[in-house]
Amino acid sequence: MLAIIGGSGLSNLENLHITRRQVLRTPYGEPSSPATFGQLGGVEIVFLARHGNGHTLAPHEINYRANIWALKDLGVKEVIAVNSVGGISANAGPGQLIVPDQIIDYTHGRRHTFHEGAGQPVVHIDFTWPFDRATREALLESADAAGQSVEDGGVYAATNGPRLESAAEIARIERDGGTLVGMTGMPEASLARELSLPYAMLAVVANWAAGKGDSAQQIVLEDIVAILDAGLIKVRRIIEHRASRLAA
Ligand code: HPA
Repeated sequence: MLAIIGGSGLSNLENLHITRRQVLRTPYGEPSSPATFGQLGGVEIVFLARHGNGHTLAPHEINYRANIWALKDLGVKEVIAVNSVGGISANAGPGQLIVPDQIIDYTHGRRHTFHEGAGQPVVHIDFTWPFDRATREALLESADAAGQSVEDGGVYAATNGPRLESAAEIARIERDGGTLVGMTGMPEASLARELSLPYAMLAVVANWAAGKGDSAQQIVLEDIVAILDAGLIKVRRIIEHRASRLAA
């Protein structure tokens, strides 16, 4: 079963033939939303709205552990995370789709691991390549089949939010090697790795990051929605292709 974690703007999948909804419970509390199950291109899909139905959870309020645990518990074999981002590098302009291959984590105060608490052994996971290689490749292939241009590779910088960054923070992230910036990629990706859940990200650039391009003076939030919507139409096509590949 394929899971989609939908970010800002992607609270549903249009062509998903919904079969049922299920409220999920985990040892870590309740996930962001009930799971929506459905058929897409002949494959069973489960969809989770990262910010909750109605977009009520800020990035730092999301129960990432519950979301990832619930997907593992449901027997999911592949997770495609859809994340809206700000673009930092020249090839990351608004509307661009990117499948990043690296992460730098600037978040703090989030529950970053399943392995904590009294009596729990310390566990270190390998995170050299934070995204699952096969899932990334499948995403890139699906984009190709869907005729959508996607950037292969990028360094996703995870900031804490919910505010956007200052221009100096983006300049620092750029010096660090970050090429795109968002608020929800971590600890989602590392929690997925802790549970050996194949996980990759399809990022949609909603705006130039602070201080870049037409965001030199400010980020105009009103402009973001239309750009995101256009990008998410492409995302839906790519996901449909991924589903039909799995069905074949
Ligand atoms: N910064 C952080 N997260 C984001 C941005 C941004 O500029 N745009 C969309 N998500």
